[in-house]
Amino acid sequence: EQSRQIAQTLSEFRLTTDQLLEVKQRMRTEIQNGLSKATQESATVKMLPTFVCSTPDGTENGDFLALDLGGTNFRVLMVKIRSGKKRTVEMHNKIYAIPLEVMQGTGEELFDHIVHCISDFLDYMGMKNARLPLGFTFSFPCLQTSLDAGVLVTWTKGFKATDCEGEDVVGLLREAIKRREEFDLDVVAIVNDTVGTMMTCAYEEPTCEIGLIAGTGSNACYMEEMRNIEMIDSNEGRMCVNMEWGAFGDNGCLDDIRTEYDRAVDDFSLNPGKQRYEKMCSGMYLGEIVRNILIDLTKRGFLFRGQISETLKTRGIFETKFLSQIESDRLALLQVRSILQHLGLDSTCDDSIIVKEVCGAVSRRAAQLCGAGMAAVVDKIRENRGLDYLNITVGVDGTLYKLHPHFSRIMHKTVKELAPHCHVNFLLSEDGSGKGAALITAVGVRLRQEVN
Ligand code: BG6
Ligand code: GLC
Repeated sequence: EQSRQIAQTLSEFRLTTDQLLEVKQRMRTEIQNGLSKATQESATVKMLPTFVCSTPDGTENGDFLALDLGGTNFRVLMVKIRSGKKRTVEMHNKIYAIPLEVMQGTGEELFDHIVHCISDFLDYMGMKNARLPLGFTFSFPCLQTSLDAGVLVTWTKGFKATDCEGEDVVGLLREAIKRREEFDLDVVAIVNDTVGTMMTCAYEEPTCEIGLIAGTGSNACYMEEMRNIEMIDSNEGRMCVNMEWGAFGDNGCLDDIRTEYDRAVDDFSLNPGKQRYEKMCSGMYLGEIVRNILIDLTKRGFLFRGQISETLKTRGIFETKFLSQIESDRLALLQVRSILQHLGLDSTCDDSIIVKEVCGAVSRRAAQLCGAGMAAVVDKIRENRGLDYLNITVGVDGTLYKLHPHFSRIMHKTVKELAPHCHVNFLLSEDGSGKGAALITAVGVRLRQEVN
């Protein structure tokens, strides 16, 4: 009886192929709403223009600074790109911590901290005196009016610094650099991490015209036909669009598949009601869904001898790396128990079996939902190009995709099932999005010189 009730709870996380096709269809509708002028204003999936109009062609050249903010790590990078027959990219980078109180303090503190880290990095590289061009990977929704201007629409994930929403983020960075009066930089481009990832991968693989992040957050970008982007007047060629698909479902269109646990995670998050799809698909939230299920099962007496420990009440205990370990098939149950022990959860052998099942149900649904979204994107591109069959590459990054033992496989399989007229090749980004941001910066500098 107990196992029947547990199975019943977890069955809410099982989606049929028809349901997934329905999710794909709804994503298609939201994509259309985001692209069309008439519906743009109220659209949840924003489809933001990026002013990146081509993928790399190998002529990019120069030395660039890059920032990478918004994923697990904040990095400052130096990227040296050499064009010609033997193209090379040399990278140096340093990871810096962003303390929670800075992430959620004032905007001025956040940007002062960023500039402080750049200063340390320039000292480390011995390059304080050069006015280097900089590409800023900023992994949040930005309304761009050019390559080097982007107004933060809303913070997502764990960020909440004040006085930034509605502001031009490049302006905030430039002001912070001025405040420090120590060095000068030429901020050339603001880049979403999906776009940076797509560009990183496209440098090696020209068929890469989609970027995907399955990490702390979840999002995608792709090369859309200019004529379909109604916000932009031009009708020639293509432009990369940052979908901000994490907000899919914010108008209630996924309510029929959200569970009480999803609602609990959403209610207690920094941004209730927002990023609902992201909260079902990405690393920052999967552990929280798991924790909420475990609390419920414990309350019902099926787990941990019915005792809800302080640990279990602690938000954020199940990070992606722990979920990934728990679900690893190479791990014996005894080891699962020792992970739980390490987290401060005293479990029996039966408990560890149940915990593993819960993790599996949650991550499986995440991978399938992400796959359904991607299926919508590739079919859209296929139709854009009037093709019966599309061959395309997706550049991917993110800890969930990289570390989780099953996520990538299930996601690939779902795309294959839901978009049978597309052959989708997934290419893991090895170098992060900083390299892509530098490539975009290189093109930005060149275009600027051509104009002058
Ligand atoms: C990194 C990219 O490799 O992956 C970042 O350089 C990106 O730009 C990140 O945000 C996404 O993964 P995660 O799991 O760190 O959020
Ligand atoms: C969040 C951000 C988005 C980013 C994604 C992955 O969804 O809003 O801009 O691409 O996380 O990091």
